[in-house]
Amino acid sequence: MEKLLITGNGPLHGEVVMAGAKNAALPVIAASLLTADPLQISNVPGVRDIATAVELLQLLGCKVERQGTDMSLDASEITSLRAPYEMVKTMRGSILLLGPLLARFGEADISLPGGCAIGSRPVNAHIEALQMMGADITIDAGYIKAKASRLIGAHIAMDVPSVTATENIMMAASLADGTTVIENAAMEPEITDLGHLLTAMGASVEGAGSSHITIEGKKTLHGAQHRVPPDRIESGTFLVAAAATRSKITIRDTEPSFLGYVLAKLEAAGASLRTGEDWIEIDSRNRRPQAVNISTAPYPAFPTDMQAQFMALNAVAEGTATVAENIFENRFMHVAELQRMGAGIALQGHIAVVNGIERLQGAPVMATDLRASACLLIAAMAADGETTIDRIYHLDRGYANIEQKLASLGANIRRV
Ligand code: EPU
Repeated sequence: MEKLLITGNGPLHGEVVMAGAKNAALPVIAASLLTADPLQISNVPGVRDIATAVELLQLLGCKVERQGTDMSLDASEITSLRAPYEMVKTMRGSILLLGPLLARFGEADISLPGGCAIGSRPVNAHIEALQMMGADITIDAGYIKAKASRLIGAHIAMDVPSVTATENIMMAASLADGTTVIENAAMEPEITDLGHLLTAMGASVEGAGSSHITIEGKKTLHGAQHRVPPDRIESGTFLVAAAATRSKITIRDTEPSFLGYVLAKLEAAGASLRTGEDWIEIDSRNRRPQAVNISTAPYPAFPTDMQAQFMALNAVAEGTATVAENIFENRFMHVAELQRMGAGIALQGHIAVVNGIERLQGAPVMATDLRASACLLIAAMAADGETTIDRIYHLDRGYANIEQKLASLGANIRRV
């Protein structure tokens, strides 16, 4: 199994280009099932989860062509409406096929994803919303079996603003009869982006990116061209890496407006930031980070997908901070690994109390999920000595060419 070997070697420097967002590309790829016309997508990130999504669509009969970061998807001849467990268990985002398949073909057979390393992650919100839209849904032998001759618009109130459930409802509603309104919708930039795509495909979507979304269904949708927006979590990860290693770097092809809360927390940690239209420069040279309290919440507040990276930052910061994880019940698996590197962290339920220490020590550690891997990478670069990170397939699910990018900034990092 591949591992990463990292030796902490001082500050990073230079410029690095950010990829398209995995969590924006996944719903865009799923939306290709809504039309018989081809969809042309650019800036698709070269990460494992996207490869899994492509394999899944090919299994359904979709034709996929890929050249670098450009992708063309043609769902004119779909031959299967089933997403098998073997694929869904490797990527929970597969649930995004439910809405589009049901809306266009009247049927879908999607494996239940089951639990995952960061929590139980139910999908009841997806199912209940589609039932309100007239779908007949049963759970049979671990599969969600959904049927609807034609979905109808509904007024849907979400108990929690789920990102992928909001996306599933938006896609299903675009081909439903009548108007669908989503209350307490998720407001992540990925939702706004999906709204743009669906509009370009001929749907009528208003309010995507706010808590109240209105979608008017159409009989058919057509093809479109779409550019995947920059990955805000990749961007945040590189910025935190710079702050933890007391570096000055510039990230390019990013979108500062997606990162307001995260940038404010980096400034609170003592970093100097400059931003342009599509770049962010961080300067933390000769500055030990200050401890910053973190409390995860739906966008626009602090993203759960950045919690682990800030845990690594706080581990080497001056002072004590609390890190509260409020979205997923088990997203602290990186804490035990950071403790192996000498970090001073005490867990009290969903809150971690982090006592920063001057230097972490390199150690063999194990990645447990995607963002936990990023946390360990940051800790390793800020540590004395050598760290090996095992199970880095988690990292490859969501970060494109991460070791090449970090090596280009001067990190001593190698895949073995
Ligand atoms: N929830 C329910 N019922 C549901 C769905 C969600 O109670 O039916 C709860 C969850 O248990 C959780 C909260 O709602 O407490 C929010 O979860 P959400 O459904 O928004 O998460 P998701 O849509 O499954 C997406 C991202 C995750 C990211 C979360 C939160 C994709 C493909 N995945 O997941 O990304 O952590 O939103 O922002 O967009 C990652 O990239 O590392 C990752 C895990």
